[in-house]
Amino acid sequence: MPDIESLLKEKRTFKPSPEFSRQANWNKRTTNEYRKLGAKNPTRFWAKMARENVEWFTPWKKVLDWKPPFAKWFVGAKTNVSYNCLDRHLEGENAWRRNKAAIIWEGEPGDSRVLTYAELHREVCRFANVLKARGVKKGDRVCLYMPMIPELAIAMLACSRIGAPHSIVFGGFSAEALADRINDAQAKLVVTADGGYRKGTAFALKTTVDAALEKTPCVETTIVVKRTGEPVAFRSGRDLWWHEVMADASTRCPAAKLDAEHPLFILYTSGTTGNPKGILHTTGGYLTHVTTTFKAIFDIKDEDVYWCTADIGWITGHSYVVYGPLSNGATTVMYEGTPTHPGPDRWWSLIEKWGISIFYTAPTAIRTFIRLGDELPKAHDLSSLRLLGTVGEPINPEAWMWYHRVIGRRRCPIVDTWWQTETGGIMISAIPGAVETKPGSATLPFPGIHADIFDEEGKAVKGEGGGFLVVTHPWPGMLRGIWGDKKRYKETYWGKYKDTYFAGDGAHRDKAGYFWIMGRIDDVMNISGHRIGTMEVESALVSSPDVAEAAVVGRPDEITGTAIVAFVSPKDTAKPGPDLVDRLKRHVAQEIGAIARPAEIRFTNALPKTRSGKIMRRLLRDIASGREVAGDTSTLEDFSVLARLRESEED
Ligand code: WTA
Repeated sequence: MPDIESLLKEKRTFKPSPEFSRQANWNKRTTNEYRKLGAKNPTRFWAKMARENVEWFTPWKKVLDWKPPFAKWFVGAKTNVSYNCLDRHLEGENAWRRNKAAIIWEGEPGDSRVLTYAELHREVCRFANVLKARGVKKGDRVCLYMPMIPELAIAMLACSRIGAPHSIVFGGFSAEALADRINDAQAKLVVTADGGYRKGTAFALKTTVDAALEKTPCVETTIVVKRTGEPVAFRSGRDLWWHEVMADASTRCPAAKLDAEHPLFILYTSGTTGNPKGILHTTGGYLTHVTTTFKAIFDIKDEDVYWCTADIGWITGHSYVVYGPLSNGATTVMYEGTPTHPGPDRWWSLIEKWGISIFYTAPTAIRTFIRLGDELPKAHDLSSLRLLGTVGEPINPEAWMWYHRVIGRRRCPIVDTWWQTETGGIMISAIPGAVETKPGSATLPFPGIHADIFDEEGKAVKGEGGGFLVVTHPWPGMLRGIWGDKKRYKETYWGKYKDTYFAGDGAHRDKAGYFWIMGRIDDVMNISGHRIGTMEVESALVSSPDVAEAAVVGRPDEITGTAIVAFVSPKDTAKPGPDLVDRLKRHVAQEIGAIARPAEIRFTNALPKTRSGKIMRRLLRDIASGREVAGDTSTLEDFSVLARLRESEED
């Protein structure tokens, strides 16, 4: 793997500055102490964190009940995520936070809204009462399909307050994708908005919901936030305006005392088959994991203004825009729109405007800004920044250095955080006041996280070496299952190695024990930090009447990390050409969403297959990235297919 080569030539290291370490929530001494405890006795470590960082109504009887691959954390304990994110900041010694900004929100057109902890609490209670009034009970699923507006956070916290698991569907998904997710979770109620703003224009959401609801008999109610004011159709008896139902809802709603293992949310993510997986997270363990990692890794202080640029529709938004920050009593910034609207320096002007001190974003965004030049960030006062983070994909050392130099002005530590929808919270990351960083490495597993590297046979790679990234001991934020599919849960994550979590990523460990994540090794592509299964795109393509067969692979892309290339074998009746290319790209966007739109479509009469009929993706990947076809082709069924594929290059 050429990537490993280049990363391992990376010799630069950055020690935490004494000034940063002195003020850090976790300094070297604490971190080492926790590391030792976590290595020897992970359950004791996490129990300590749970006691220190989370409020419980009833203590647990047992920290961990592990019947592989099913884990229960904090057995018998009762707590509430919404209570931990809100109520505990309004009482006792924290009561001064009542009027502290909980959410600073900025809309794309430039409008803004600041919600204090007391205000947010009132809004959440009101919406929780609205949900109850519409018949939503503990355990009922609520689907949230919304733009990045404060009402999304309010709805999440209201759901968690009454124990109704939410399923957030990213606003960029199509009606098809939305309907599938609503049906899989059997959601009873959908919260949406008329639309939102992106790239300077209003986009519609309610119309997409209307189309999806044609196929979802389980939905009884939709609640619609008025955001853009664009006209929408309303079905009486089913559709309600948010502002109308909120108007006379009571601001009092006690937080339900929920079992630590009560479902908190479902979040759909791509896997190696065409069907997205509903990743299930529960209450007490997840809360402990995100609260602890947020405090340690983002070094949060009451004075900080923290901004994570992720959309709440992804796990990063769940854990580190909403739950982790709020349970720590932090001020979290939410921005509605695109990074480059109205000008390419919007993000830097937001940092300057709100005095953001901690900034967490994705490598793909960093690479985009590198291309736009140093002048834009240099024109802004970014002196409020004190800590930077990245997530979602491997960061190439040069992008890391740019981030360090141009955004962090060489003062700010960078935490490169590796984790997944399935892990709930960060698993591998530097602790900024304690751990020396290396550009391109996520550094070391968080205390209490037993990450390791296995070879194909399931033997742990000792010392320096590469292989499959695994976790050998359960952790509190781990997924508890795939919604409605125990078998798939077992096979996907626990089927490769005995009692060991298989992450689907390749990784390398250097002499110092640092982890260098190499990216996905299965049929999942990482496009701008978003996971998209090759099978999902293939299923979308073959659902077109023009396509007989399709194979989808990723090829390296400078900005998005990976770009989607689709090899399509058209039906005899189809007319391959630029028109069909356009049509198919649009078709995929319609079936899944714009994030899955192929960058390139190549037509071919046949796909290269093994004798047993399996598509040879390795070959297609080589062709897609313009590499010489390497490796063993002895099982290839039809050699001439290869030559024809290369000629099919789209112009
Ligand atoms: C990738 C996002 C390298 C990885 C939180 C993982 C990373 C997938 C990093 C999960 C990182 C995430 N370095 N790769 N710091 N963080 N990944 O579920 O391939 O959207 O398996 O969760 O993103 O993506 P997901």
